[in-house]
Amino acid sequence: MATALITGASRGIGREVAVTLAAEGWQVLSAVRNSKSAPSGTQIEIVDMADPESIAALARRLIARNQRLDALVNNAGVYRGVPARRIWAVNVLGPLRLTRALQSLLARDARVVMVTSGLGALSAQPPGLVKRLSDPKLSLADLEHLAEEAPGGYGESKATLNVLARVFAKQLEPQGILVNAISPGWVRSDMGGPSAPRSLQQGAASVLWGVRLPPGGSTGGVFQDGKAIE
Ligand SMILES: NC(=O)c1ccc[n+]([C@@H]2O[C@H](COP(=O)([O-])OP(=O)(O)OC[C@H]3O[C@@H](n4cnc5c(N)ncnc54)[C@H](OP(=O)(O)O)[C@@H]3O)[C@@H](O)[C@H]2O)c1
Repeated sequence: MATALITGASRGIGREVAVTLAAEGWQVLSAVRNSKSAPSGTQIEIVDMADPESIAALARRLIARNQRLDALVNNAGVYRGVPARRIWAVNVLGPLRLTRALQSLLARDARVVMVTSGLGALSAQPPGLVKRLSDPKLSLADLEHLAEEAPGGYGESKATLNVLARVFAKQLEPQGILVNAISPGWVRSDMGGPSAPRSLQQGAASVLWGVRLPPGGSTGGVFQDGKAIE
């Protein structure tokens, strides 16, 4: 049975992704902050994506039981109403730390999805950040330092997440692992609000495209509904 770990599986798009995969027969590990919030039919894994020790503890538990992962969906995110450092901790440092910590558990040909946003389009970011993110030699350590500075808000954090996907894609290519940043579009979740044009199902379908990529499929790109976006 294939196994997927989904962060932010408590509600919104992450929950929809978790429930869909579980209904298709995947073993789903719902990474949530509150054990009561995990969808039924999935296995609860507690993690606070803003807390490096909580991420390390989750990785230790999974490594101890030699948990193979066929898919990792870094979906947990925050939009606004919190300090910039928290936005960057959840949206960038969390996915960076979790993916790095779980690398050894990823199956050959695993899929990794970073859930991004159209607001992360590089052309919409300030020139200073664009210059830093455009450096082709950027390493994970460089991105970690950049994210610790928290240079901006939500859009800047997602632009950086897109580059994180590219860096992991290059690193994991030898194992056939495909890593992409995928936007769900503007979705009617707690984050997107009731006026958003897209349903949870439509948002989740966009994300799931990255989980279902065939071997040798796209890697290191930014997509929505299976189409490349900026
Ligand atoms: N909705 C949109 O229109 C839209 C558009 C573009 C991109 N996105 C992206 O899609 C992803 C999911 O968004 P959504 O609309 O489903 O948002 P949502 O309904 O607000 O749900 C956010 C999820 O992230 C989790 N989360 C937040 N902080 C966390 C932390 N510190 N540790 C662990 N989990 C944490 C929440 O868990 P709790 O229940 O514990 O708070 C919840 O499961 C996000 O990355 C978001 O940026 C959304």
